[in-house]
Amino acid sequence: MTFPLTRARRLRNSLPLRQMVQETSLSAANFVYPMFVVHGRDVKAEITSMPEVYHFSIDRLAAEIDDLSALNIPAVMLFGIPAQKDPIGEENFASDGIVQQAVREFKRVNPDILVMTDVCLCEYTNHGHCGIIHEGEILNDETLDILGKVATSHADAGADVVAPSGMMDGMVKAIREALDGDGFRNVSILSYAVKYASGFYGPFRDAAQSTPSFGDRRTHQMDPANAREALKEARLDVEEGADMLMVKPALPYLDVIYRVRQAFDLPLAAYNVSGEYSMVKAAAANGWIDEQKVVLEALTGIRRAGADIILTYHAKSAARWLKNNS
Ligand code: PBG
Repeated sequence: MTFPLTRARRLRNSLPLRQMVQETSLSAANFVYPMFVVHGRDVKAEITSMPEVYHFSIDRLAAEIDDLSALNIPAVMLFGIPAQKDPIGEENFASDGIVQQAVREFKRVNPDILVMTDVCLCEYTNHGHCGIIHEGEILNDETLDILGKVATSHADAGADVVAPSGMMDGMVKAIREALDGDGFRNVSILSYAVKYASGFYGPFRDAAQSTPSFGDRRTHQMDPANAREALKEARLDVEEGADMLMVKPALPYLDVIYRVRQAFDLPLAAYNVSGEYSMVKAAAANGWIDEQKVVLEALTGIRRAGADIILTYHAKSAARWLKNNS
């Protein structure tokens, strides 16, 4: 069967035909919207390197929550900026911590939005590292106790899903045991199982004020050159009890998303991170690309690679475009 019997263009001839043979779907139902919450009153402050992404104080969340439900965005991932930072990040597991307050506000305003929380130390520690530091080294096992406390504290505030992002060995097991020990058997774990030591987190670290004060994250986050190792990381987290897996960043790692999708049957998320977002926003602001086309194409690509769930700062605008285009 070759030309002229076969003509690939036939199936592209009209919109209904193109829609009928479309292989990958993209919908707001796939999105998780990452948000940054801060102390104070009446704060909605745009993050310079991330246009249209804001720091919100608790009293400004309700309007945003209504926006998200109007756009049918099913879930958020919350990041908190504490009032004070210290060596272990005390506010991270305080019942009146900023994330705990935000979780309660979400549940008060709209209990149907799924609330996920990032579980890591780096936004809360004065050294900006993802674990406890001793003589310049990040201590793995000592950090696990704190991660368990953070996860149960978020669960106690009402979080539906906790998402450990610190790439400590054994973090999923420690969190599962802590949650179960406190009666939070139905709180799920979305593990940032495959997280690379990436340059694409730059704008996030401005937003979360979490740049390490010395060194970098290469002793725990993965080497961008490795893909087989991604399967090992994913397998370990599956064995420790993860309910869902994540690959992060997304666009430079579509092959990794594909491989993890093939090898595991858990729901798979991909994090379209801050640097990926800021590059698109900067190019669009310069008129160099068509933002809508590029964003929907990139998000479709992430889905085509195999992600069920996409964490993206584009969630609101993409949901709006998808709604208007349908
Ligand atoms: C760590 C964390 C980071 C991101 C999410 N969770 C930053 C890091 O590892 O330095 C990055 C997200 C982004 O860039 O959008 N708590």
